[in-house]
Amino acid sequence: MCGIVGIISSKEVSSRIINSLKKLEYRGYDSAGIATLVNGNINEVKCEGRVDVLEQDISKFNLKGDIGIGHVRWATHGKPSKVNAHPHSSDEVSVVHNGIIENSTILKKLLEKKGYTFKSQTDTEVIAHLVTDYLKKNSLKDAIIKVLKKLHGSFALGIIFKKQNNLIVGARRGSPLAVGYGPNENYLGSDSYALKSMTNKISYLDDGEFCFVKKDQIEFFNSDGSKINKKVMNLSKDEVNYDKGDYKYFMEKEIDEQPTTINACINEYVDKLNNQINIYNFPWKISSFKSAMLIGCGTAFHSCLIAKYWMEQNTNLEVSVDIASEFRYRKIKFKKDCIYIFVSQSGETADTYAALDLCKKNKVKTCAVVNVIESSIARDADLVLPIYCGQEIGVASTKAFIGQMLVLYILSTKISFDQKCIDRKEYQSKIKNLLCLSTSAKKTLKQDQKILNIGKVFAEAKGSMFLGRGFSFPIALEGALKLKELAYVHAEGYPAGEMKHGPLALIEEGMPVVVLAPRDEHYKKTISNMQEVIARGAKVLLITNKNKDEIISENIWEKIEVDQLDDELIPFLITIPLQKLAFYSALEKGYDIDKPRNLAKSVTVE
Ligand code: M6R
Repeated sequence: MCGIVGIISSKEVSSRIINSLKKLEYRGYDSAGIATLVNGNINEVKCEGRVDVLEQDISKFNLKGDIGIGHVRWATHGKPSKVNAHPHSSDEVSVVHNGIIENSTILKKLLEKKGYTFKSQTDTEVIAHLVTDYLKKNSLKDAIIKVLKKLHGSFALGIIFKKQNNLIVGARRGSPLAVGYGPNENYLGSDSYALKSMTNKISYLDDGEFCFVKKDQIEFFNSDGSKINKKVMNLSKDEVNYDKGDYKYFMEKEIDEQPTTINACINEYVDKLNNQINIYNFPWKISSFKSAMLIGCGTAFHSCLIAKYWMEQNTNLEVSVDIASEFRYRKIKFKKDCIYIFVSQSGETADTYAALDLCKKNKVKTCAVVNVIESSIARDADLVLPIYCGQEIGVASTKAFIGQMLVLYILSTKISFDQKCIDRKEYQSKIKNLLCLSTSAKKTLKQDQKILNIGKVFAEAKGSMFLGRGFSFPIALEGALKLKELAYVHAEGYPAGEMKHGPLALIEEGMPVVVLAPRDEHYKKTISNMQEVIARGAKVLLITNKNKDEIISENIWEKIEVDQLDDELIPFLITIPLQKLAFYSALEKGYDIDKPRNLAKSVTVE
């Protein structure tokens, strides 16, 4: 989703702004732009499309300046176009914005009455004119305080001023914003990754705060304009060089990395010597919980769903799950003896963050399962359980899904032992099984050629279905989501037992249907559901696990078998062919695999 960058230096900044914008490309965007201040003039270069195009345009314009802001835009108000690309400038200022100004229509009308004219259809342009208007009668700081109070919605802002050659203003409400400290220069960015090639010293703005980023210092203020101090964090440098290696796509690399990321995560939480799970920073007594509520969006929501099955099966907790964008608007009865678990790869998803914020306001216990440990969600939750899978760049979440499931499984197992729902023998046997997961994941990855051919059929399909029961139902939802987002093929994930209650009507001759039927307690029932769709013409891809009993059915189109592991761990393995299926279907169609249309990696608007 949108990303912003700002640099103030004594050296020219445009090429470094471009480099930082390239770091933000993974978030998903449709247009890009940059503005610099040169001798009291703001020069803008914008384009529809990629940062590469912007880079070429900038070299034509020979864009100079040692103060500048840049932006990658993911359209919300107004279609993707050069004129709607940020920065948006008035006679006095230039603004980059991530978020949505919900009262922009009213503000625009008021400003038009005052004689301001608008060039774009964006909500952001109102900010440029509003700042200009307030600057007429106020100091710069007072103007900013007043403007921020006028804006409804969410924003991370970077603003440069024609008459002010010594600062960039940054402000945050809802959307993330980091500042970075450099040698005689300082920076602003939507995330630390955008700034990592320049600095590893970072501070984060909290909601309602704003800052003056100057060459030699950064001043921070709360919403009333009182000065505040911010913690400076030293970030690790290990992810700076994350690249595609020998792969053509990040997604492909990220799928193949999963055996390694599984091990990395297990190593952080499992003490192999003593055969036990360690969550060192757990701040509460496990016995103080009666319930758990898991919250996330998209793929993260699916990992919450599967955790519900594990926790219900293995612990005494009453477990519920919700989509963050629903949770935040429901009339929740918050409970002191509930643990509220927020799952998010980026840790910046606007709805998930708002749901966490709601919990914080209601003073309940919060836990974040995240990949980005410097993220807003990680910073605000009481307990952070990282998934340790390394940076995920592909918009389609793959290794992070496996990592989220893994941490939730580990947490569930720890709770079940501490609550005495399982004895030491069972606990240690679960840990032992877990240690086999990486090897089995590696073997599952080897079925590539077969899935490539299957992918060709799914790529051409009008629609498809993914069916499963029990642990396999959330995985069916995830498989369908992957195919939709990458290959743009309509796909429905469904509980296999629900087919007769409506969706069976969709099945027609040749429709590809994935049936997830591991040899667990649901196996026979799922196989019956499979026969029902085959009888109506479906082309079934059966995904199951190896077993000595042959499957009695002659009409299965294709079959993929994963290793035989503990039933609870099979969801990890059957996920992998589904990730590959979506990948190969998209590849067949020649789509932009790492950046599917209309989507963003970090969804920072609601
Ligand atoms: O960063 P998050 O895990 O909070 O993101 C949540 C969803 O936006 C994300 O999982 C999305 O559904 C993925 N693109 C799916 O592959």
